[in-house]
Amino acid sequence: MADNYLEKRYEEVFGPGAKPKGGPHRPALDTLLQRNRSYRGYDPSYVVHRRQLDAMIAVNPKVASSINLQRLRFRPVVKGPEADSVNAHIRMGRGLPELNLPFPGTQPEAFIIVCSIAPENPGIDIDLGISLQSMALKAVEMGLGCLMIRNFDREPIREALNLPYEPIAVLAVGKPAEQIELVPVHEGEPLGYYRRDGVHYVPKLTAEDLTI
Ligand SMILES: Cc1cc2nc3c(=O)[nH]c(=O)nc-3n(C[C@H](O)[C@H](O)[C@H](O)COP(=O)(O)O)c2cc1C
Repeated sequence: MADNYLEKRYEEVFGPGAKPKGGPHRPALDTLLQRNRSYRGYDPSYVVHRRQLDAMIAVNPKVASSINLQRLRFRPVVKGPEADSVNAHIRMGRGLPELNLPFPGTQPEAFIIVCSIAPENPGIDIDLGISLQSMALKAVEMGLGCLMIRNFDREPIREALNLPYEPIAVLAVGKPAEQIELVPVHEGEPLGYYRRDGVHYVPKLTAEDLTI
């Protein structure tokens, strides 16, 4: 059966967003992956709750870790002065510098700061990727969206949040306020993301092109 066949068929019959009744609806992995885009604009009227960040952090005891050393630690940050100081030290959308993202009033107000208890190395960085992606997928499952941020000022954020360990990534969390579309492209075509008529397009190499 094709990916998400039942979900798609249900929406075709009952309209966009319709979900089967009876029990919590859990979107299939492909749907979660598709929705798990890098959001750089969030709905300011939606406030992310601490328990939502806790639910995201709670995926970590279920994921792989190099030699199972589990050297990542997580600091939730909700809307308030701490979130303001994180916003002052993160950078978004290096591929679209002329836009100065995020647009005023759409900055994220909640974050998970990922720290490492040991100096960064390839194993820790792979653990980091697994962790960020897993937490982001959990956010998507809850109807939220994320941005993985590595372009940030480590020392000021460490000081502002009084972190006992070095922060190695910031995961912004919120209710997405952006329309993002994936565009299939082939080897050699431009891979830079772009915006047109308010839609953010992200070129992705096809699975055939990725397969060697
Ligand atoms: C390790 C890593 C670090 C990233 N750091 C930043 C960042 O500092 N600022 C930012 O705006 N986007 C950042 N991104 C988001 C990427 O730009 C994004 O994944 C890419 O444009 C593709 O879009 P997509 O995630 O929707 O597929 C990062 C992504 C990864 C995986």
